Amino acid sequence: MTRTTAFLVVVVTITTLTFGTCNAEAGKHGRMMKGGMRGHMMGERGHMDKVSVKRHRLYMRGGLPAEYAGKTNPYEPTPDLIKRGEEIYMQQCKACHGESGRGDGPAAKGLDPKPSDLSFIMKRHIATDEYLFWTIAEGGKPIGSTMPAYKGILSEKDIWAVILYLRDRFGR
Ligand code: HEC
Repeated sequence: MTRTTAFLVVVVTITTLTFGTCNAEAGKHGRMMKGGMRGHMMGERGHMDKVSVKRHRLYMRGGLPAEYAGKTNPYEPTPDLIKRGEEIYMQQCKACHGESGRGDGPAAKGLDPKPSDLSFIMKRHIATDEYLFWTIAEGGKPIGSTMPAYKGILSEKDIWAVILYLRDRFGR
């Protein structure tokens, strides 16, 4: 994907997120009128609270380092690789992002920003290969979050395997 296309994708995503928020708010109020404070009582996360706002802004401003720009997954989503990705997710990511991907793992407590809701973000346009690879490889360093950098821990192939798993499980 070219930088221009990536930029457009991000702009569209941010627009969608912004308008999506309005709709979510409207929906919430609608629900509150009908069903009381149900959403809030159940500790439901608000729309913008599920995503890494700072990271999205940095990406939108063209903050993706050159070595990651345009990177695409060279591997096919074979059952073996998806399974490998699942193992890595359970070992490395679940503690924060949770078994369900919602960002509610035991190690997520007290983190600011909170771990993103991957079950939500994987359905958005921003979840491109270059964005996910950069996020996992460099972790929270570029935006000052607690997300670990995996480039010294996981091989490139293992990072792609996790991405295949996330797409398979949450991307549709
Ligand atoms: C110590 C807790 C922690 C662990 C472990 C962790 N993350 Fe994260 N992750 C975070 C936090 C906090 C954020 C939000 C801030 C940011 O973007 O860095 C985040 C954000 C993300 C995002 C960006 C989503 C968005 O909103 O755009 C992705 C993708 C992601 N993590 C994937 C992973 C994967 C895959 C692993 C395992 C290989 C992992 N994370 C391990 C804490 C963690």
